[in-house]
Amino acid sequence: MNVLDFQKMKNEKQKISMITCYDNWSAKIIAESDMDCVLVGDSLAMVMYGENSTVNVSVDTMAMHISAVAKSVGNKFIIGDMPFLSYRKSLTENMNAIEKVMKAGAHAIKLEGAAGNIEIVEHVVQSGIPVMGHLGLTPQFIHQLGGFKVQGKTEDSASAIVSGAKQLEQAGCFSLVLEAVPNRVSEVIGKELSIPTIGIGAGPSTDGQVLVLHDMLGVDNEFKPKFLKKYLEGHSLILGALNEYNKEVKQGDFPSINESYE
Ligand code: KIV
Repeated sequence: MNVLDFQKMKNEKQKISMITCYDNWSAKIIAESDMDCVLVGDSLAMVMYGENSTVNVSVDTMAMHISAVAKSVGNKFIIGDMPFLSYRKSLTENMNAIEKVMKAGAHAIKLEGAAGNIEIVEHVVQSGIPVMGHLGLTPQFIHQLGGFKVQGKTEDSASAIVSGAKQLEQAGCFSLVLEAVPNRVSEVIGKELSIPTIGIGAGPSTDGQVLVLHDMLGVDNEFKPKFLKKYLEGHSLILGALNEYNKEVKQGDFPSINESYE
């Protein structure tokens, strides 16, 4: 897949599948899968580093994870997330941050919000870098939003999201993530915009879907938001394997002679 396929798929009414990928071992599995593209999301701050928001992750950390993914994800299209404030500084600092993410192996960047971002989106697109927008629940705004809450529930906030979406399309974004918005908002944006939307907690009306890999694998059995569908009972499978290994070590069953060198 390349950036042009996003629009092509929307025009042909084919849904786009996206999954987060933060490291090399999962990149190898995703490379073999039918998934269309991967997002090295700044959600890695929470999933990989145990932070309670995405605020505390640096450009260098994002670049390190993008590089690990790029080495093994095959021909999947890689979107690299720009972390908190990394695109809200001077043009030089913004472009230096974007350069690091692209040189680490991303094929496109993603940034959150529309207000105040239009000029940087235009500049980045004019520099030959595809940009994905992100509206609705924008986790980097956690302190302003007062928590991870569904956005666009009122007429005014829904209109603000729709208007932000139009501005981002106008500025040259090739696609847009819609996070935690009512399906009605996704429906309206889908009608008003030509570029494809990728939803997470945004209902069935978007042109594609993204999930955090660890969430859909059910690795955290306490994380059960309404939008999430778990495709694996990862937590109990991993726990079971660890306990089985522990039992066999304690019983002296592992390693057996079969796992020993002559
Ligand atoms: O960082 C991330 O994983 C994301 C997705 C949830 C869209 O931005």
